[in-house]
Amino acid sequence: MSEVSEWLRLLPLLGILALLGYLTIRPFLPKKKKQRDSLINLKIQKENPKVVNEIDIEDLNSANVCYCRCWRSKTFPVCDKSHLKHNELTGDNVGPLILKKKIL
Ligand code: FES
Repeated sequence: MSEVSEWLRLLPLLGILALLGYLTIRPFLPKKKKQRDSLINLKIQKENPKVVNEIDIEDLNSANVCYCRCWRSKTFPVCDKSHLKHNELTGDNVGPLILKKKIL
């Protein structure tokens, strides 16, 4: 019985040693690989941490404007129909966001 209580007294010390050991070897543990094959954006503004486009709806001049949702457009954020080739090659079914303006 006294052996068990002696071991129990060592638990905090063992916990601290385990934590220190983990913190010591953590920099050398393998890091998670980025899953390149799951990227949606392959080449648009890759230097930015986040691609954000802002369009003032009041500035829309034509009745219909198509915005890219496949991230393959060479005129991003405007759709250039690159989604057609992407869909043909991959079997995907993406298409643009079409904003329609009512002409009064
Ligand atoms: S080019 Fe991307 S949706 Fe048309």
